[in-house]
Amino acid sequence: MKFFIDTANLDDIRDLAETGLVDGVTTNPSLAAKAGIKFTDLVKEICTVVAGPVSAEVTAPDHATMMREADVLRKIADNVCIKVPLTPDGLKTCRKLADDGTLVNVTLCFSAAQAILAAKAGAAFVSPFVGRLDDIGQDGMGLIAEIVEIYSNYLDIGTEVLVASVRNPIHVVDAARIGAHVATLPPSVLRQLYNHPLTDKGLAAFTADWEKSGLKILED
Ligand code: E4P
Repeated sequence: MKFFIDTANLDDIRDLAETGLVDGVTTNPSLAAKAGIKFTDLVKEICTVVAGPVSAEVTAPDHATMMREADVLRKIADNVCIKVPLTPDGLKTCRKLADDGTLVNVTLCFSAAQAILAAKAGAAFVSPFVGRLDDIGQDGMGLIAEIVEIYSNYLDIGTEVLVASVRNPIHVVDAARIGAHVATLPPSVLRQLYNHPLTDKGLAAFTADWEKSGLKILED
């Protein structure tokens, strides 16, 4: 399973890229607004830090303007992935960009029917938002299972299921059990994945025993 990080915070991106665990980055207009720098500069910088796909979202509602925005964004770096909303104009833009060989991430997916449309439009990634579905009492992970099942019925579907709106490590583990291709994680969730109280407890005991023994690995 690939891990993308869901943030526009450059400090987090630089820090987490060094773990070697980050396969890509997703941003959205809300996250970009928090970064407080010119969007094209932000995308350029992220693309120098992370070699994998970096999703940059168009913001216009209509196909023609989405295409103009996408043209600006895809020229920034080869690893820019254009993010479009799951609307008729967004999917029209997806088809056009995919036919040109550009990676497209179709975002704001909340149903299996929408995911079928994204695959037919040639998306490289579809982003179902599990957390936002859970928030309204629906089954976010159930949707991931449905989409993975549907896509696996067709050998010609190349669209990867990118689990988005991830809120906790359980979402990550459940998505992996289902076989989703990618999860995009807020930095805090990626950092949470390391944690287990027995790891801390075990390490403290090993360290204490080692210090008491006077043994060394590195000679002075
Ligand atoms: C996906 O690409 C989105 O940026 C993101 O996962 C949305 O998450 P949220 O529901 O926590 O805002």
